[in-house]
Amino acid sequence: MDLGEYRLQYETEGLALHDVAPDPIDQFHDWFGAAEAAGVDEPNAVTVSTVVDGWPDARVVLLKVVDARGLVFYTNFESAKGRQLTEVPRAALTILWNPLRRQVRVRGSVELIDGDEADRYFATRPRGSQLGAWTSPQSTVIGDRSELEARYAALEQEYEGIEVPRPARWGGVRVIPIEVEFWQGRPNRLHDRLRYRRAGDEWVIERLAP
Ligand SMILES: Cc1cc2nc3c(=O)[nH]c(=O)nc-3n(C[C@H](O)[C@H](O)[C@H](O)COP(=O)(O)O)c2cc1C
Repeated sequence: MDLGEYRLQYETEGLALHDVAPDPIDQFHDWFGAAEAAGVDEPNAVTVSTVVDGWPDARVVLLKVVDARGLVFYTNFESAKGRQLTEVPRAALTILWNPLRRQVRVRGSVELIDGDEADRYFATRPRGSQLGAWTSPQSTVIGDRSELEARYAALEQEYEGIEVPRPARWGGVRVIPIEVEFWQGRPNRLHDRLRYRRAGDEWVIERLAP
């Protein structure tokens, strides 16, 4: 398959140092709002990269909170990514908002969010997702799909008429950024890249070559 014909010219407006907020989280909120306004499907979908034995690994998750403390997604701590993050508590996040010709990249250390905060979020999830979190031994090898369905049905019965508690192995991971890059596609591959770099308590913003 030759994919060389996919060669779009990006005609989007530029990104200058004086356009962006001094804090990358504020800038993220600004771009996230623009992605929502543009109708981007699942604008909170983000690729999370981890390292395991020096090998990169990556998968998509959904961001659930972005605030001054960092960027949070929820997952199973016993999954491949959960184990990798326990061993090497560092991650990279990559978001593509393609209709806007925008990419955001984040690198940072990770921490688990408080159990109370995770409980509150878990309680807001649809019941089916709550039972799903109990059902799936994420990232382990399983046989037939019917195993999962049988386990789900058994849990449905077990929790009938009662609130589903959060499994201890399921919760939130917060990425605390040390670097955040905002990338804006521009004509002739001369894209704009502005990178925020943590220097003590300050954020230094620099333009990178595309
Ligand atoms: C759009 C999308 C959203 C997803 N959201 C999540 C999520 O929020 N949390 C999660 O654990 N997995 C999510 N997944 C599944 C992961 O991509 C992945 O298959 C799973 O977490 C197992 O990854 P691991 O084996 O590397 O731990 C999502 C997948 C897609 C395509």
